[in-house]
Amino acid sequence: MSLLTLGACSADTGALDPRGPAAAETAGHWWLLFWLGLAVYVAVMALLLYAIMRARRQEDPDSSPPIDDRALFTVGGLAIPLLILAIVLGDSVRTGQSVIDPPDKPGVTIEVIGHMFWWEVRYPDHDVVTANEIHIPVGVPVELRLTSADVIHSFWVPQLAGKRDLNPGKENVAWIQADEEDVYWGQCAEFCGVQHALMGKLVIAQPEDEFEQWIADRQDPASEPADEILQAGMDVYFQAGCAMCHGIDGITDPDPPAGSPGPDLTHIGSRMTIASAIEDNTYGNLTAWIVDPHQIKPGVRMPPTDLDAQELDALVEFLLSLE
Ligand code: CUA
Repeated sequence: MSLLTLGACSADTGALDPRGPAAAETAGHWWLLFWLGLAVYVAVMALLLYAIMRARRQEDPDSSPPIDDRALFTVGGLAIPLLILAIVLGDSVRTGQSVIDPPDKPGVTIEVIGHMFWWEVRYPDHDVVTANEIHIPVGVPVELRLTSADVIHSFWVPQLAGKRDLNPGKENVAWIQADEEDVYWGQCAEFCGVQHALMGKLVIAQPEDEFEQWIADRQDPASEPADEILQAGMDVYFQAGCAMCHGIDGITDPDPPAGSPGPDLTHIGSRMTIASAIEDNTYGNLTAWIVDPHQIKPGVRMPPTDLDAQELDALVEFLLSLE
């Protein structure tokens, strides 16, 4: 599936098109602030217009009725602002409480570890590791345990929930819930370095049974290369040093631990995107990425390679076979 197709699924990816309870509460609060602000603006503009008209008629002071200054101060300067602030405060507290606690007990726990500039995604109850694409079951709260391997990042999927920071050495807990089956775009929301703007992610909300199947498929280790080209690709994978940063369960031993420099590649062939969800996972894009990732993401930690065309082809074929 291409990203263009995904775009068609959710044309609007913003916080004002909420698809989960936490995002809906936040959007509701936003609209309350918007309508109150608009009402105040219109009222102030009307008074201003009135004052201008009144000043123009001052040659004949008797034509305008006198204004009771004390009443104007009490109602317009005190009572109405206090009422507006009380409404805003009350709704802020209510919204804040409702986005902190999920409506039900979370059905799944996911650990998300921020890296410059990608997301490590772990399902500790299922022994599954992936990157940048977070699969969740639709309609249930999902607990997120957020940390960072380097600097501060921030988890944000606007249609599902507000932002929550990923701090090195400290775990933050958040939750998301998607009410509809879809693919939701997410972004790092805390400046973390030159590629902050290209630190994207996808949340893929699936029906419960599809999610369970996805988890079960991810628990399988990679199988041995099935033909000569794939075998050659695996050899390149080791010789070129890919295995020093990227683990493939069943092939690299031991598997790189949590906080490894590069994303786990055990099922890279089944991911929709590469490079932190900024490019479709195609033969061409993956090849260009391996040749020189700095052309796509300057400042990224993965170094360029000087593989010849045959080695490169074998490596990419091998990676895409890992489904
Ligand atoms: Cu990670 Cu900004």
